Amino acid sequence: MANKFYITTPIYYVNDVPHIGHTCTTIAADIIARYHKILGDEVFFLTGTDEHGAKVAEAAAKEGLTPQEFTDKVSRTFSNIWPKLNISFDYFIRTTNPQHKKIVQEILEKIYQKGDIYKSKYKGLYCIGCEKYITESELVDGRCPLHPNRQVCEQEEENYFFRLSKYIPELIAAIEDEKNPLHYQIEPEGKRQEVLSRLKAGVNDLSISRAEVSWGIPLPWDQAQTIYVWVDALLNYYTATKIVNKENFWPANLHLIGKEILWFHTVIWQALLLAADIALPKEIFAHSFYLIDGQKMSKSLGNVISPEELLAKFGVDGTRYLIAYSFPSLTDSDVSWNKFKEKYNADLANGLGNLAARIARLAEKSALKFSLGESLSFSPEVQEGVKNFRFDEALNFIWTQIAKENKRINEKKPWELSGEELKEFLGESVKKIRQIAFDLQPFMPQTAEKISNQFQGPVIKSEKPLFPRI
Ligand code: MSP
Repeated sequence: MANKFYITTPIYYVNDVPHIGHTCTTIAADIIARYHKILGDEVFFLTGTDEHGAKVAEAAAKEGLTPQEFTDKVSRTFSNIWPKLNISFDYFIRTTNPQHKKIVQEILEKIYQKGDIYKSKYKGLYCIGCEKYITESELVDGRCPLHPNRQVCEQEEENYFFRLSKYIPELIAAIEDEKNPLHYQIEPEGKRQEVLSRLKAGVNDLSISRAEVSWGIPLPWDQAQTIYVWVDALLNYYTATKIVNKENFWPANLHLIGKEILWFHTVIWQALLLAADIALPKEIFAHSFYLIDGQKMSKSLGNVISPEELLAKFGVDGTRYLIAYSFPSLTDSDVSWNKFKEKYNADLANGLGNLAARIARLAEKSALKFSLGESLSFSPEVQEGVKNFRFDEALNFIWTQIAKENKRINEKKPWELSGEELKEFLGESVKKIRQIAFDLQPFMPQTAEKISNQFQGPVIKSEKPLFPRI
């Protein structure tokens, strides 16, 4: 029986249109999803949009639209762009989906009945950008460091609280002990340490409803309050499996996220699941951020890179390659249009494109017939790279193979060979390029297919260049 593999991206806020940050998480998830599919696993790959809350309501009002009209419009910018990048998602969830809302309410009701939700007063500073309360000590110059263009607002409300503190000892045990039946992995290791030390420093209960925010899912037992947008959002990973009858995929194997939402995905999420008697996910990987020319990406700096621009310049597989290569797995990754262009020309137009064209020309000219019945599998280095979220290492390995083969051709000068010698030499080249195409599949599915079709034998012909120079 095939293994099940359930992978998710964060569901993106619809107050903003897709940018390179959303794109990198989604492409990374797609690489991993495709990798597992090729290994023969049964994959369920989920992405979607996070559509409730103060931030989205505010953005809708700014455009003079109702929140529903606005979210319909912006959600489409996400669901439309992903297919253009060849993202193989199986379902796109929207939190305004009525089935999602109903299941969220049922889960909250269950936690309430259990006694893990109580009413209390809360006073604090709220960052609408993060959609969370923020402490004085987190402020930088009186502002949220992630949203310096916004003001934090003082809020005092009577609302409902979730007994998050009650679950902390269980969470610490689950994270620390690999043999614990509730164990889940937090990666990279530094992030796991960060979560553990924060857990051990003590955690307060969590306010999970808002009286002031009407754009949200009403609490089933008190319709005057809406469910806190993060509680609604996190539950998407679970509700989606119910909506599309993929319950057998639960628990998720991997939640891929950015580092700024680590706490929600490794503490609040698991505590809610424990309270609702739902199995915990297996692994959470939090990647770092893109910087553009050394700076934070922001609308006010005008340095936001969109997936449309990337596609227009580099094409689907060019974009996928550049994103995979620069993926900020462990530390922030500094990118720029210039670096992208240079990398594209060096590795794709020259490196890979050139090698494929060269071998095809030689094979065509030789008029030889090639019989290729071998069954291929991923190179161990590529497997390692994908498993460790080090797409750069996987790709570096593949490009080393490309360079080696180019060198072998330069040295052996097959144009001076003939007969058996030529046949043997070219047979080897074709084998090499087929292995390269196999290894490239998760990263550049179209290119991999083109190459393996071109070199499937018996007769090999030249084709249009894979990557025009920019
Ligand atoms: N709606 C919440 C997530 C809810 S999940 C239950 C949210 N949405 S978001 O639109 O702000 O998207 C955040 C995610 O986008 C990050 O976690 C990360 O995956 C990606 N990125 C956003 N900016 C980024 C960079 N500058 N660099 C890399 N990825 C970044 O948070």
